[in-house]
Amino acid sequence: QKNIRIAPSILSADFAALGQEVRAITEAGADYVHVDVMDGHFVPNITIGPDVVKALRPHSERTFDVHLMISPVDPYIEGFAKAGADIITVHPEAGPHVHRTLQLIKSFGKKAGVSINPGTPLAPVKPLMEEVDLILVMSVNPGFGGQAFIPESLRKLESLRRMIDDSGRDIDLEVDGGINRETAPQAIAAGADVLVAGSATFKGGPEAYAENIRALRGHA
Ligand code: DX5
Ligand code: ZN
Repeated sequence: QKNIRIAPSILSADFAALGQEVRAITEAGADYVHVDVMDGHFVPNITIGPDVVKALRPHSERTFDVHLMISPVDPYIEGFAKAGADIITVHPEAGPHVHRTLQLIKSFGKKAGVSINPGTPLAPVKPLMEEVDLILVMSVNPGFGGQAFIPESLRKLESLRRMIDDSGRDIDLEVDGGINRETAPQAIAAGADVLVAGSATFKGGPEAYAENIRALRGHA
């Protein structure tokens, strides 16, 4: 029995009440707080920056899992680290020096993650196995919440699960996009141990969060 962690994406929260929303998912049993950072350049949407992470930090003691969909990324790592991120995840597609970026993240004492888009093969991850603490498989094209899960992502999760187990390292395998009650068990079976869920966590409003999170975990 694996230890499955649920990471609600606050992209689907009420942006006018973010502090309250972060407290609500924390009370509802979230393990990580997943923060989607978008720049209108690497992805076709704009969300939030380090000041918002800093403002939210006092609202939860859970792991802040910051997913950077921005390019360039290096100039912003320090800001997110100092704002209180615990894990900072970057995309190799966003620039030529992902290894340097991972080293930079670790130089601030933070966990470093690498994320790969649906159209990216696993090859770029292989040379990074010694450097990463988390691998994030995008199961939708990044930019928006509420999109449909891309089934091919399951094959990627299976391959990465083998690579992680072979490495003997303690690396989170996270999946992001289109996770709901139907796809969550498939992703878990394929080897994921951290599930990002935006719309599936926040649907129904605060009274439903605890039940939504329990269901994603596979508990009836
Ligand atoms: C997409 C983001 C996801 C998104 C997931 O670019 O990285 O974290 O918020 O939303 P759902 O769970 O609704 O697919
Ligand atoms: Zn994300």
